[in-house]
Amino acid sequence: MYEPYKQHLSKMHSTGKHRKLPDLEQAKKKSYINFSTNDYLMLSRNHEVIEAAQSAAKAYGVGSTGSRLLSGNNNLCESLEAKVAQDKNEETCLIFNSGFQANLSVLAALLDSKVLAEKPMVFFDKSNHSSLYQAVFLSKAELIRYKHNDMEHLGCLLDKYKNDRRLKFIVTETIFGMEGDILPIHEIVSLASKYQAFLYLDEAHATGIVGCHGYGLSTTLDLKHIPHVTMGTFSKALGCSGGYIACSTILKDYLINKAAGFIYSTAASPILIGAVYKAWDMIKDFDEERKNLLFLSATLRKNLLDIGLNIGTSNSHIISVILGSQDLATKFAEKLLKNNIIVSCIRPPTVQPGSSRIRIAINVSHKVQDIEDLVNALGTL
Ligand SMILES: Cc1ncc(COP(=O)(O)O)c(C=O)c1O
Repeated sequence: MYEPYKQHLSKMHSTGKHRKLPDLEQAKKKSYINFSTNDYLMLSRNHEVIEAAQSAAKAYGVGSTGSRLLSGNNNLCESLEAKVAQDKNEETCLIFNSGFQANLSVLAALLDSKVLAEKPMVFFDKSNHSSLYQAVFLSKAELIRYKHNDMEHLGCLLDKYKNDRRLKFIVTETIFGMEGDILPIHEIVSLASKYQAFLYLDEAHATGIVGCHGYGLSTTLDLKHIPHVTMGTFSKALGCSGGYIACSTILKDYLINKAAGFIYSTAASPILIGAVYKAWDMIKDFDEERKNLLFLSATLRKNLLDIGLNIGTSNSHIISVILGSQDLATKFAEKLLKNNIIVSCIRPPTVQPGSSRIRIAINVSHKVQDIEDLVNALGTL
């Protein structure tokens, strides 16, 4: 019975795609400079966030006891949704247990061909996160991928199908988790408006980093004239976990009735919601730290280019050094580890074959010296 799984695993081994969990013993032995965490504002161990989690547990209990539609709803969830909606300039918000769950169930619900009475067309950035891909596969909508962050290509494709009467959706991240580049949001909004497409924005890596007081790229412009939702996570810059969909009241009502990952899952623990509420509120106090983080990121990008490394199109705090082969990416990550530096080694299928890389994420704890150490170590590889 286990044979097919074993065979699959040995195929992964032989093609160099097998993954395993990090060695915790190794991590305990030394102190490292860590460029692999998504805890961009270092809030996961912030004492105020921890205290908020403790107070929420005392007031509401550890578990939420049921789905939001049954026994799991509480004032904490509703206050968090009101707060997120306000800071995102949206009518309302709905929270999910993870960003993955939010994307999978919300996008699939929006693309449901039975509700729309036809299969919609989904114009989709090639570098989008797996959760967005899985949602489109689940919905069986027509997937039309455009070149990464290429608005000219997207425009051509939208134009090609302009007389096709099927409903159109555009799905994209706003800061790309692997490429580290920023969406030209004004251009994509004009395209969505011109071709009457629904815009789905994933702000997982933008939340806490860019936009008005750090509340995401969507806060830099008015989206009210186009149908849209903005999704984000509490798992990266907020140092917690969970996801949100900021949207219109009509869509919230629809999702409460249609998004399976919302309806059939126990609501998030009050401990988590208490922590997220505090962390979300704190984002706005990090303007100085954000400025410094983006300055350090720009310094690192310049230094990496100076030593001849390929950093692709990165223009944010996420910087990938594109190395090509899986072997080379693995060797770079291993050698950096020997220099007490942790980076993420990213290989297919997370990225396209031939574009394996090490992914470096700058966070607010990094100092100029850390950047210098990283550049010096990379310079000697
Ligand atoms: C762009 C993007 N969207 C969604 C997710 C899923 O979020 P979560 O880790 O909170 O489930 C991720 C996680 O890596 C991501 O990078």
